[in-house]
Amino acid sequence: MEPKFTSKMAEKDKAERNRKRSEPVEDKRIISNSRLEDDESDRSLRPKTMADYIGQEKIKKNLAVYITAAKNRNEALDHVLLYGPPGLGKTTLAHVIANELGAQIKVTSGPAIEKGADLAAILTNLEDGDILFIDEIHRLNRNIEEVLYPAMEDFTLDLVNGTGAMARSIRIPLKRFTLIGATTRSGNLSSPLRDRFGVILRLEPYSVKDITKIVTRSSGILGIDIEDKASEEIAKRSRGTPRVANRLLRRVRDFAEYEGQDEISLQLADKSLEYMDIDSLGLDVTDRTVVETIIDKFDGGPVGLDTLAAATGEESSTIEDVVEPFLIQLGFINRTTRGRVCTERAYKHLGRSFKGSYEGRDLFSASEEEKKNED
Ligand SMILES: Nc1ncnc2c1ncn2[C@@H]1O[C@H](COP(=O)(O)OP(=O)(O)OP(=O)(O)O)[C@@H](O)[C@H]1O
Ligand SMILES: [Mg+2]
Repeated sequence: MEPKFTSKMAEKDKAERNRKRSEPVEDKRIISNSRLEDDESDRSLRPKTMADYIGQEKIKKNLAVYITAAKNRNEALDHVLLYGPPGLGKTTLAHVIANELGAQIKVTSGPAIEKGADLAAILTNLEDGDILFIDEIHRLNRNIEEVLYPAMEDFTLDLVNGTGAMARSIRIPLKRFTLIGATTRSGNLSSPLRDRFGVILRLEPYSVKDITKIVTRSSGILGIDIEDKASEEIAKRSRGTPRVANRLLRRVRDFAEYEGQDEISLQLADKSLEYMDIDSLGLDVTDRTVVETIIDKFDGGPVGLDTLAAATGEESSTIEDVVEPFLIQLGFINRTTRGRVCTERAYKHLGRSFKGSYEGRDLFSASEEEKKNED
Protein backbone atom coordinates (compact mmCIF):
# COMPACT_ATOMS: atom_id res chain seq x y z
CA MET A 1 0.00 0.00 0.00
CA GLU A 2 1.31 3.45 -0.81
CA PRO A 3 1.27 5.54 2.36
CA LYS A 4 1.31 8.82 0.38
CA PHE A 5 -1.86 7.89 -1.39
CA THR A 6 -3.76 6.96 1.77
CA SER A 7 -2.71 10.09 3.66
CA LYS A 8 -3.82 12.18 0.68
CA MET A 9 -7.14 10.41 0.72
CA ALA A 10 -7.48 10.92 4.44
CA GLU A 11 -6.74 14.61 3.93
CA LYS A 12 -9.37 14.90 1.25
CA ASP A 13 -11.80 13.10 3.49
CA LYS A 14 -11.02 15.43 6.36
CA ALA A 15 -11.33 18.51 4.15
CA GLU A 16 -14.71 17.24 2.99
CA ARG A 17 -15.88 16.71 6.55
CA ASN A 18 -14.67 20.16 7.54
CA ARG A 19 -16.49 21.71 4.62
CA LYS A 20 -19.70 20.06 5.76
CA ARG A 21 -19.08 21.16 9.33
CA SER A 22 -18.38 24.77 8.44
CA GLU A 23 -19.99 27.16 5.96
CA PRO A 24 -23.04 25.79 4.18
CA VAL A 25 -23.12 26.21 0.38
CA GLU A 26 -24.93 29.43 -0.52
CA ASP A 27 -28.28 29.26 -2.27
CA LYS A 28 -29.91 32.56 -3.20
CA ARG A 29 -32.69 31.29 -5.46
CA ILE A 30 -36.29 32.34 -4.84
CA ILE A 31 -37.17 28.77 -3.92
CA SER A 32 -34.13 28.37 -1.66
CA ASN A 33 -34.92 27.12 1.84
CA SER A 34 -32.01 29.12 3.30
CA ARG A 35 -32.63 32.43 5.00
CA LEU A 36 -32.16 35.30 2.55
CA GLU A 37 -31.82 39.01 3.27
CA ASP A 38 -35.40 39.98 2.53
CA ASP A 39 -36.70 37.22 4.81
CA GLU A 40 -35.84 39.49 7.74
CA SER A 41 -39.28 41.06 7.35
CA ASP A 42 -40.61 37.60 8.16
CA ARG A 43 -40.44 38.26 11.88
CA SER A 44 -44.02 39.47 12.02
CA LEU A 45 -45.10 36.22 10.34
CA ARG A 46 -43.48 34.07 12.98
CA PRO A 47 -46.03 32.26 15.17
CA LYS A 48 -45.55 32.91 18.87
CA THR A 49 -47.78 30.25 20.42
CA MET A 50 -48.31 26.52 19.87
CA ALA A 51 -51.82 27.30 18.65
CA ASP A 52 -50.44 29.49 15.87
CA TYR A 53 -47.67 27.04 14.98
CA ILE A 54 -49.23 25.12 12.09
CA GLY A 55 -48.57 21.42 11.34
CA GLN A 56 -45.89 19.17 12.95
CA GLU A 57 -48.72 17.69 15.04
CA LYS A 58 -46.69 14.86 16.53
CA ILE A 59 -43.97 17.21 17.71
CA LYS A 60 -46.50 19.64 19.17
CA LYS A 61 -48.26 16.86 21.05
CA ASN A 62 -44.99 15.58 22.51
CA LEU A 63 -43.90 19.04 23.53
CA ALA A 64 -47.26 19.87 25.09
CA VAL A 65 -46.86 16.86 27.40
CA TYR A 66 -43.30 17.77 28.41
CA ILE A 67 -44.09 21.46 28.83
CA THR A 68 -47.13 20.76 31.03
CA ALA A 69 -45.14 18.29 33.13
CA ALA A 70 -42.25 20.71 33.57
CA LYS A 71 -44.65 23.49 34.54
CA ASN A 72 -46.56 21.33 37.02
CA ARG A 73 -43.41 20.13 38.69
CA ASN A 74 -41.91 23.57 38.53
CA GLU A 75 -38.84 22.12 36.92
CA ALA A 76 -36.80 23.08 33.89
CA LEU A 77 -37.74 21.33 30.66
CA ASP A 78 -35.35 18.60 29.51
CA HIS A 79 -32.80 19.67 26.87
CA VAL A 80 -34.36 19.64 23.40
CA LEU A 81 -32.67 18.99 20.06
CA LEU A 82 -34.55 20.16 16.97
CA TYR A 83 -33.32 18.94 13.64
CA GLY A 84 -34.41 19.08 10.04
CA PRO A 85 -33.85 20.99 6.80
CA PRO A 86 -33.68 24.81 6.77
CA GLY A 87 -36.87 26.87 6.86
CA LEU A 88 -39.12 24.28 8.55
CA GLY A 89 -39.49 26.25 11.78
CA LYS A 90 -36.78 25.20 14.25
CA THR A 91 -35.95 28.72 15.42
CA THR A 92 -39.64 29.57 15.50
CA LEU A 93 -40.39 26.50 17.61
CA ALA A 94 -37.60 27.31 20.09
CA HIS A 95 -39.22 30.71 20.70
CA VAL A 96 -42.68 29.13 20.92
CA ILE A 97 -41.43 26.71 23.60
CA ALA A 98 -39.94 29.59 25.61
CA ASN A 99 -43.17 31.52 25.26
CA GLU A 100 -45.33 28.57 26.36
CA LEU A 101 -43.09 28.04 29.39
CA GLY A 102 -43.08 31.74 30.16
CA ALA A 103 -39.29 31.46 30.19
CA GLN A 104 -36.56 33.85 29.13
CA ILE A 105 -34.66 32.82 26.03
CA LYS A 106 -31.04 33.64 25.23
CA VAL A 107 -30.04 33.11 21.64
CA THR A 108 -26.64 32.24 20.25
CA SER A 109 -25.19 29.97 17.57
CA GLY A 110 -22.41 27.45 17.07
CA PRO A 111 -20.18 29.68 14.95
CA ALA A 112 -20.72 32.68 17.28
CA ILE A 113 -19.13 30.89 20.24
CA GLU A 114 -15.41 31.08 19.54
CA LYS A 115 -13.89 30.26 22.92
CA GLY A 116 -14.81 28.12 25.91
CA ALA A 117 -14.82 31.32 27.95
CA ASP A 118 -17.57 32.77 25.71
CA LEU A 119 -19.79 29.83 26.48
CA ALA A 120 -18.86 29.90 30.19
CA ALA A 121 -19.95 33.54 30.35
CA ILE A 122 -23.28 32.73 28.73
CA LEU A 123 -23.91 29.75 31.00
CA THR A 124 -23.09 31.53 34.26
CA ASN A 125 -25.53 34.30 33.38
CA LEU A 126 -28.51 31.95 33.00
CA GLU A 127 -31.27 31.94 35.63
CA ASP A 128 -33.38 29.00 36.79
CA GLY A 129 -35.74 27.88 34.00
CA ASP A 130 -34.07 30.03 31.34
CA ILE A 131 -33.72 28.68 27.84
CA LEU A 132 -30.43 28.78 26.00
CA PHE A 133 -30.98 28.42 22.27
CA ILE A 134 -27.90 27.38 20.28
CA ASP A 135 -28.60 27.52 16.56
CA GLU A 136 -26.41 25.55 14.14
CA ILE A 137 -25.17 23.56 17.11
CA HIS A 138 -23.29 21.17 14.79
CA ARG A 139 -20.88 24.00 14.08
CA LEU A 140 -19.70 24.21 17.70
CA ASN A 141 -16.03 23.60 18.13
CA ARG A 142 -15.33 20.17 19.68
CA ASN A 143 -13.43 21.55 22.70
CA ILE A 144 -16.22 24.04 23.37
CA GLU A 145 -18.66 21.14 23.17
CA GLU A 146 -16.82 19.62 26.10
CA VAL A 147 -17.71 22.61 28.26
CA LEU A 148 -21.34 21.81 27.50
CA TYR A 149 -21.28 18.18 28.65
CA PRO A 150 -21.12 18.78 32.45
CA ALA A 151 -23.29 21.86 32.04
CA MET A 152 -26.06 19.84 30.43
CA GLU A 153 -25.69 16.81 32.63
CA ASP A 154 -24.91 18.11 36.11
CA PHE A 155 -25.49 21.85 35.73
CA THR A 156 -21.89 22.58 36.58
CA LEU A 157 -19.04 24.28 34.84
CA ASP A 158 -15.57 22.74 35.10
CA LEU A 159 -12.96 25.42 34.75
CA VAL A 160 -9.20 25.06 34.85
CA ASN A 161 -7.49 27.87 36.69
CA GLY A 162 -3.77 28.53 36.08
CA THR A 163 -1.36 26.48 34.01
CA GLY A 164 1.17 23.67 34.46
CA ALA A 165 1.78 22.44 38.03
CA MET A 166 -0.31 25.31 39.38
CA ALA A 167 -3.35 24.32 37.34
CA ARG A 168 -6.39 23.67 39.44
CA SER A 169 -9.79 22.61 38.37
CA ILE A 170 -12.75 24.43 39.87
CA ARG A 171 -16.42 23.57 39.65
CA ILE A 172 -18.98 26.29 39.40
CA PRO A 173 -22.63 25.38 39.92
CA LEU A 174 -25.06 26.58 37.27
CA LYS A 175 -28.78 27.31 37.42
CA ARG A 176 -31.22 24.73 36.05
CA PHE A 177 -31.56 25.85 32.45
CA THR A 178 -32.88 24.18 29.32
CA LEU A 179 -30.70 23.93 26.27
CA ILE A 180 -32.48 23.95 22.92
CA GLY A 181 -30.17 23.05 20.08
CA ALA A 182 -31.07 23.35 16.39
CA THR A 183 -29.30 21.73 13.49
CA THR A 184 -29.81 21.01 9.82
CA ARG A 185 -27.18 18.29 9.97
CA SER A 186 -27.84 15.96 12.86
CA GLY A 187 -25.35 13.53 11.36
CA ASN A 188 -22.59 16.06 12.03
CA LEU A 189 -23.41 16.15 15.71
CA SER A 190 -21.05 14.19 17.94
CA SER A 191 -22.75 11.33 19.73
CA PRO A 192 -21.76 12.48 23.26
CA LEU A 193 -23.53 15.77 22.57
CA ARG A 194 -26.53 14.13 20.95
CA ASP A 195 -26.88 11.71 23.86
CA ARG A 196 -27.24 14.55 26.34
CA PHE A 197 -30.52 15.74 24.85
CA GLY A 198 -33.54 14.23 26.58
CA VAL A 199 -35.91 15.22 23.78
CA ILE A 200 -34.90 14.83 20.14
CA LEU A 201 -37.41 16.03 17.56
CA ARG A 202 -37.19 15.84 13.81
CA LEU A 203 -39.12 18.38 11.75
CA GLU A 204 -40.60 17.03 8.53
CA PRO A 205 -41.57 18.89 5.35
CA TYR A 206 -45.16 20.18 5.59
CA SER A 207 -48.14 18.89 3.66
CA VAL A 208 -49.71 21.14 1.01
CA LYS A 209 -52.71 21.42 3.33
CA ASP A 210 -50.61 22.79 6.19
CA ILE A 211 -48.63 25.16 3.96
CA THR A 212 -51.93 26.41 2.53
CA LYS A 213 -52.99 27.32 6.09
CA ILE A 214 -49.66 29.07 6.65
CA VAL A 215 -50.05 31.10 3.45
CA THR A 216 -53.58 32.15 4.41
CA ARG A 217 -52.44 33.10 7.92
CA SER A 218 -49.48 35.09 6.58
CA SER A 219 -51.67 36.94 4.07
CA GLY A 220 -53.85 38.05 6.95
CA ILE A 221 -50.82 39.42 8.80
CA LEU A 222 -49.55 41.13 5.64
CA GLY A 223 -53.00 42.67 5.20
CA ILE A 224 -53.96 41.28 1.82
CA ASP A 225 -56.93 39.09 0.92
CA ILE A 226 -56.25 35.81 -0.81
CA GLU A 227 -58.48 33.21 -2.47
CA ASP A 228 -58.23 29.72 -0.95
CA LYS A 229 -57.24 28.32 -4.33
CA ALA A 230 -54.45 30.89 -4.59
CA SER A 231 -53.07 29.93 -1.15
CA GLU A 232 -53.12 26.33 -2.26
CA GLU A 233 -51.33 27.12 -5.51
CA ILE A 234 -48.55 28.95 -3.68
CA ALA A 235 -48.38 26.06 -1.20
CA LYS A 236 -47.95 23.48 -3.95
CA ARG A 237 -44.89 25.27 -5.22
CA SER A 238 -43.29 25.89 -1.82
CA ARG A 239 -41.45 22.57 -1.46
CA GLY A 240 -43.11 21.79 1.86
CA THR A 241 -41.21 24.68 3.46
CA PRO A 242 -42.91 27.57 5.31
CA ARG A 243 -39.98 29.93 4.64
CA VAL A 244 -40.34 29.39 0.89
CA ALA A 245 -44.12 29.78 1.11
CA ASN A 246 -43.84 33.12 2.90
CA ARG A 247 -41.26 34.35 0.40
CA LEU A 248 -43.39 33.35 -2.60
CA LEU A 249 -46.40 34.98 -0.98
CA ARG A 250 -44.51 38.25 -0.56
CA ARG A 251 -43.47 38.19 -4.22
CA VAL A 252 -47.01 37.41 -5.35
CA ARG A 253 -48.26 40.27 -3.19
CA ASP A 254 -45.81 42.58 -5.01
CA PHE A 255 -47.38 41.47 -8.29
CA ALA A 256 -50.85 42.14 -6.89
CA GLU A 257 -49.84 45.65 -5.86
CA TYR A 258 -48.25 46.27 -9.24
CA GLU A 259 -51.41 45.16 -10.98
CA GLY A 260 -53.54 47.24 -8.65
CA GLN A 261 -55.41 44.21 -7.24
CA ASP A 262 -56.53 44.16 -3.62
CA GLU A 263 -56.97 40.40 -3.53
CA ILE A 264 -54.67 37.60 -4.65
CA SER A 265 -56.75 35.50 -7.04
CA LEU A 266 -55.76 32.06 -8.30
CA GLN A 267 -55.18 33.57 -11.71
CA LEU A 268 -52.85 36.23 -10.34
CA ALA A 269 -50.92 33.70 -8.22
CA ASP A 270 -50.52 31.44 -11.25
CA LYS A 271 -49.40 34.26 -13.48
CA SER A 272 -46.83 35.64 -11.06
CA LEU A 273 -45.36 32.21 -10.23
CA GLU A 274 -45.08 31.50 -13.92
CA TYR A 275 -43.35 34.84 -14.37
CA MET A 276 -40.87 33.81 -11.63
CA ASP A 277 -40.32 30.60 -13.60
CA ILE A 278 -41.34 28.36 -10.72
CA ASP A 279 -43.17 25.30 -11.99
CA SER A 280 -46.08 23.32 -10.57
CA LEU A 281 -43.84 21.39 -8.14
CA GLY A 282 -41.70 24.35 -7.14
CA LEU A 283 -38.76 23.58 -9.42
CA ASP A 284 -36.83 26.52 -10.85
CA VAL A 285 -34.61 26.75 -13.92
CA THR A 286 -31.56 25.29 -12.17
CA ASP A 287 -33.47 22.27 -10.90
CA ARG A 288 -34.95 21.61 -14.31
CA THR A 289 -31.57 22.05 -16.04
CA VAL A 290 -30.03 19.38 -13.83
CA VAL A 291 -32.84 16.93 -14.55
CA GLU A 292 -32.93 17.75 -18.27
CA THR A 293 -29.16 17.33 -18.56
CA ILE A 294 -29.27 13.85 -17.04
CA ILE A 295 -32.13 12.86 -19.34
CA ASP A 296 -31.05 14.52 -22.57
CA LYS A 297 -27.26 14.37 -22.44
CA PHE A 298 -26.76 11.19 -20.44
CA ASP A 299 -29.77 9.19 -21.44
CA GLY A 300 -31.16 9.27 -17.92
CA GLY A 301 -27.84 8.36 -16.27
CA PRO A 302 -25.94 7.08 -14.49
CA VAL A 303 -23.73 10.13 -14.59
CA GLY A 304 -21.03 11.10 -12.09
CA LEU A 305 -21.38 14.28 -10.04
CA ASP A 306 -18.36 16.02 -11.56
CA THR A 307 -19.44 15.25 -15.12
CA LEU A 308 -22.92 16.51 -14.32
CA ALA A 309 -21.44 19.68 -12.85
CA ALA A 310 -19.33 20.29 -15.96
CA ALA A 311 -22.31 19.66 -18.25
CA THR A 312 -24.63 22.04 -16.37
CA GLY A 313 -22.04 24.70 -15.51
CA GLU A 314 -22.84 24.44 -11.79
CA GLU A 315 -20.39 23.68 -8.97
CA SER A 316 -20.45 20.05 -7.81
CA SER A 317 -21.05 21.24 -4.24
CA THR A 318 -24.03 23.35 -5.39
CA ILE A 319 -25.58 20.36 -7.12
CA GLU A 320 -24.92 18.03 -4.21
CA ASP A 321 -25.90 20.28 -1.30
CA VAL A 322 -28.43 22.66 -2.79
CA VAL A 323 -30.13 21.26 -5.90
CA GLU A 324 -30.16 17.51 -5.40
CA PRO A 325 -31.76 17.13 -1.96
CA PHE A 326 -35.15 18.31 -3.15
CA LEU A 327 -34.95 16.31 -6.39
CA ILE A 328 -34.19 13.21 -4.34
CA GLN A 329 -37.03 14.05 -1.93
CA LEU A 330 -39.38 14.23 -4.93
CA GLY A 331 -38.08 10.87 -6.14
CA PHE A 332 -36.79 12.42 -9.37
CA ILE A 333 -33.15 11.43 -8.91
CA ASN A 334 -31.46 8.45 -7.34
CA ARG A 335 -27.87 8.31 -6.19
CA THR A 336 -26.33 5.00 -7.24
CA THR A 337 -22.78 3.72 -6.93
CA ARG A 338 -22.28 4.52 -10.60
CA GLY A 339 -23.71 8.02 -10.44
CA ARG A 340 -27.00 9.92 -10.62
CA VAL A 341 -29.98 8.45 -12.44
CA CYS A 342 -33.35 10.00 -13.28
CA THR A 343 -36.55 8.13 -12.47
CA GLU A 344 -39.73 7.77 -14.48
CA ARG A 345 -41.34 10.51 -12.40
CA ALA A 346 -38.74 13.02 -13.58
CA TYR A 347 -39.34 12.07 -17.22
CA LYS A 348 -43.08 12.44 -16.74
CA HIS A 349 -42.80 15.82 -15.05
CA LEU A 350 -40.72 17.16 -17.93
CA GLY A 351 -43.00 15.56 -20.50
CA ARG A 352 -40.34 13.19 -21.85
CA SER A 353 -41.02 9.59 -22.83
CA PHE A 354 -39.46 7.07 -20.48
CA LYS A 355 -37.48 4.24 -22.00
CA GLY A 356 -37.29 2.09 -18.90
CA SER A 357 -34.99 2.38 -15.91
CA TYR A 358 -31.26 2.13 -16.32
CA GLU A 359 -31.26 -1.25 -14.60
CA GLY A 360 -34.10 -2.42 -16.81
CA ARG A 361 -32.40 -1.24 -19.98
CA ASP A 362 -29.18 -2.88 -18.91
CA LEU A 363 -30.85 -6.24 -18.37
CA PHE A 364 -32.67 -5.89 -21.65
CA SER A 365 -29.52 -5.20 -23.66
CA ALA A 366 -27.74 -8.08 -21.89
CA SER A 367 -30.44 -10.52 -22.89
CA GLU A 368 -30.30 -9.21 -26.47
CA GLU A 369 -26.56 -9.91 -26.45
CA GLU A 370 -27.17 -13.40 -25.14
CA LYS A 371 -29.75 -14.03 -27.84
CA LYS A 372 -27.22 -13.04 -30.50
CA ASN A 373 -24.64 -15.38 -28.99
CA GLU A 374 -27.13 -18.22 -29.01
CA ASP A 375 -27.81 -17.67 -32.72
N1 LIG B 1 -45.23 25.78 11.87
C1 LIG B 1 -45.22 26.99 11.32
N2 LIG B 1 -46.34 27.69 11.19
C2 LIG B 1 -46.33 28.92 10.60
N3 LIG B 1 -45.23 29.51 10.12
C3 LIG B 1 -44.06 28.87 10.25
C4 LIG B 1 -44.00 27.58 10.85
N4 LIG B 1 -42.71 27.18 10.84
C5 LIG B 1 -42.01 28.15 10.25
N5 LIG B 1 -42.80 29.18 9.89
C6 LIG B 1 -42.38 30.39 9.16
O1 LIG B 1 -41.22 30.05 8.40
C7 LIG B 1 -40.15 30.92 8.69
C8 LIG B 1 -38.88 30.12 8.79
O2 LIG B 1 -38.85 29.38 9.98
P1 LIG B 1 -37.56 29.27 10.92
O3 LIG B 1 -36.70 30.47 10.79
O4 LIG B 1 -38.04 28.93 12.29
O5 LIG B 1 -36.85 28.01 10.26
P2 LIG B 1 -35.55 27.21 10.74
O6 LIG B 1 -35.93 25.78 10.76
O7 LIG B 1 -35.04 27.80 11.99
O8 LIG B 1 -34.53 27.46 9.53
P3 LIG B 1 -32.91 27.47 9.56
O9 LIG B 1 -32.50 26.03 9.56
O10 LIG B 1 -32.51 28.15 8.28
O11 LIG B 1 -32.49 28.22 10.76
C9 LIG B 1 -40.53 31.63 9.98
O12 LIG B 1 -40.14 32.97 9.94
C10 LIG B 1 -42.04 31.52 10.08
O13 LIG B 1 -42.62 32.70 9.59
MG1 LIG C 1 -33.27 28.83 12.36
